Amino acid sequence: MKLWKLMSLAVMLLLILSACDTVSDEPNGNGTGEYQSITVDNITLQWRTDTLGNLDVIVSAPTTGWVSVGFDPTIGMEDANIIIGYVSGDTAYARDDYGTGINTHEPDIDGGGEDNILELGGTETAGTTEISFLIPLDSGDTRDRVLVIGNTYDVILAYGEDDADDFDSYHQARTTSQIDL
Ligand code: HEM
Repeated sequence: MKLWKLMSLAVMLLLILSACDTVSDEPNGNGTGEYQSITVDNITLQWRTDTLGNLDVIVSAPTTGWVSVGFDPTIGMEDANIIIGYVSGDTAYARDDYGTGINTHEPDIDGGGEDNILELGGTETAGTTEISFLIPLDSGDTRDRVLVIGNTYDVILAYGEDDADDFDSYHQARTTSQIDL
């Protein structure tokens, strides 16, 4: 009888351990995993992937104007999948852009692409703007870059002047960094 109880306990322990393995094997959970984070020149970028093929992103910077991130540029802003957004009142606004040159960008929809922002939120508190959004890792849009889990990508980060609630005014700060997906 005691042996039977011991064996049952051992089997339960094995089942619990194998369940733990299953969870930790997932890349970043099902959209509920931990964000990875970098802060460069006062711009904070947080990101995580989900198992539905999306990238979940938060960008914040010390401005009441626009904040932005661009994924996988070739040189300067060129070819980057840029998301630029701001908060006005209680509402977040964002646009899916494409780096058309080293110093230029335009909305995906102006170049035959589409706006692939799936979800959007944002806050503006004490002089800091934060936008959060969800985009597909591979939207199928030629004006977006394909992002693959496990790869490392260059990112560009920038923010506008205070009160620059727009998508076109020049940045007060811009920088570059890298992220691991
Ligand atoms: C919103 C309108 C924007 C305008 C008018 C603009 C304009 C420019 C201009 C004129 C330059 C060259 C001068 C300089 O180095 O500062 C530049 C460079 C740069 N911009 Fe923008 N930009 C805009 C948005 C953005 C956004 C949204 C990002 C990032 C997501 C960004 C990232 C950069 C970077 C990284 C450089 C340096 C490029 C290099 O020399 O390698 N810009 N931009």
